[in-house]
Amino acid sequence: MMKPPSILPLRLDRVVLDIGGKRVIKDVSATLTAAPCSIVLGPNGAGKTLLLKLCHGLIAPTAGSVTWAGAPCGNVQHAQAMVFQQPVMLRRSVAANIAYALTVRGRPRAEQRARIDDVLARTGLRRFAESPARRLSVGEKQRLALARAWAIEPQVLFLDEPTASLDPAGTRQVEEIILAIHRGGTKVIMTTHDLQQARRLADEVMFLHRGRLYEQTPAAAFFTAPRTPEAQRFLEGTLFPNIRRVV
Ligand SMILES: Nc1ncnc2c1ncn2[C@@H]1O[C@H](COP(=O)(O)OP(=O)(O)OP(=O)(O)O)[C@@H](O)[C@H]1O
Ligand SMILES: [Mg+2]
Repeated sequence: MMKPPSILPLRLDRVVLDIGGKRVIKDVSATLTAAPCSIVLGPNGAGKTLLLKLCHGLIAPTAGSVTWAGAPCGNVQHAQAMVFQQPVMLRRSVAANIAYALTVRGRPRAEQRARIDDVLARTGLRRFAESPARRLSVGEKQRLALARAWAIEPQVLFLDEPTASLDPAGTRQVEEIILAIHRGGTKVIMTTHDLQQARRLADEVMFLHRGRLYEQTPAAAFFTAPRTPEAQRFLEGTLFPNIRRVV
C-alpha cells in the first residue's frame, strides 16, 4: 500500500484562545516537524492541555490558525490520535475496545485480529484481551489507551500527561511504549511536568508559561542552557504558576 502523504509540519500561527473573557493562550507561533519527540513543559495552568487540544482540533482558536502541511485541522483528524490522562474505555473487552477504534477508522475486519494481537503483545496486555476494559488498573488502562492509539498507526500522537497517576515502574513501562511508537515513525507531542521524564523522552522542548510559548529548543540545549529566565526558574523549581511566593 502506498504511504499516505505526511500531514506535517504542524504550524501554529499567532494562536490565541480566550475562555470566559480570560486569555489562556497568548499569541503562540510554532512549527512542529515530523522527526523530533516534542515535549510540552510548563507549570500547572500554563496552558499545556489547551495547546494540545488546539493542535488536535478539539477546540478552535479565538484568533490565529492551526494548519497541517497547509491544510486545516478537519482534513487530517483521521491521521491523528490523542491519549488523555484519564482515558475513557468502552464497556467492552480490551480487544473489543481496540477493534472499535479500528472499525471507526474504516480498517477491514479481516486485518483487525492480527493488529490487535500485535499491539496487545507490545503493551504487555495480551492476557487481558478478553477482560472488561473498565476493570483494568489505572496503569493497565493507560497502556490500553496507548495500544488503541498505536493500532490505528497515526502519523501524530498527542499525549496529555500520560503517566500522571502511575507508579515509577508503570511510568517506565509507558515511557518504553511511547518510545517504541515514536521509533515506529509516529510524531509524538506530549505534555508533562515531570522533568526527569522530559529528559528521558524529549528531542525538543516547548516551554509554556501563563499561556505564552517562551521557547522551543532542542532538549539537550534546553536542559543545560535554557534561553529564558522563566525556563531557568522552572528547571530550578522556583517558577510558580499564577501566584506570588508565599514563603
Ligand atoms: N474550560 C475552561 N474554562 C475556564 N478556564 C479554563 C478552562 N480550561 C482551562 N482553563 C484555564 O486555562 C489555563 C490553562 O489550562 P490548562 O489545562 O491548559 O493548563 P495545563 O498547563 O494543562 O495545567 P496542568 O499542568 O495543571 O494540567 C488554566 O488557568 C485553566 O484554569
Ligand atoms: Mg494539563
